[in-house]
Amino acid sequence: RTKPSVDTPPKASLSKLKKEAIHCRNCPLWKNATQTVFGEGPAKARIIIVGEQPGDQEDLAGRPFVGPAGRLLDKALAEAGLDRSKTWVTNAVKHFKWKPRGKIRLHQKPSAGEISACKPWLLGELRAIHPEVLVIMGATAARSLLGNKIRVTVDRGLIEAPEIAPQVVLTIHPSSLLRIRGSDEERAAAYDAFVRDLRLASGRPG
Ligand code: URA
Repeated sequence: RTKPSVDTPPKASLSKLKKEAIHCRNCPLWKNATQTVFGEGPAKARIIIVGEQPGDQEDLAGRPFVGPAGRLLDKALAEAGLDRSKTWVTNAVKHFKWKPRGKIRLHQKPSAGEISACKPWLLGELRAIHPEVLVIMGATAARSLLGNKIRVTVDRGLIEAPEIAPQVVLTIHPSSLLRIRGSDEERAAAYDAFVRDLRLASGRPG
């Protein structure tokens, strides 16, 4: 495998990174979050999947993608022939950003500063695992790893970014599927396109 030439300090083990991330104060998001939600999966994963940030349920559980978006991701991964338990699942930002709205904690988009404050953890995960395939889901993860110019809906699919992983797949975030207000057909088409993108990561497109 080729090692990604990401510019992080000396390579640290996943368990060391996870322990250190518990106390992260690189940005203010820790103040309103229950806990740091680090990535999870096998250290030898062939595939890393990156989302935006933990949601309400992930913040409480301390695990990524266990809420509604996570259930949809699990289903889509299975349909694409991928076994989630063999992948490393993580987020660009590791604390839940929210504001109160009545009884619920309303999700807020992380800022550019918060994304870059959290980037060392993501790069640390990449360096420790150096996966063959990196799946980048949604604008926040794309911004973190591919910069501001990339547009998920325009550039989705296989991306040339050999400095981060031999194969990089850019796709939509599964939460966006939950927000589609259109017809059942529109929703189904968007979901199918997501599964098609994930299939690129399985090495069995088609
Ligand atoms: N959305 C994300 O981006 N990550 C999660 O872990 C859950 C929902």
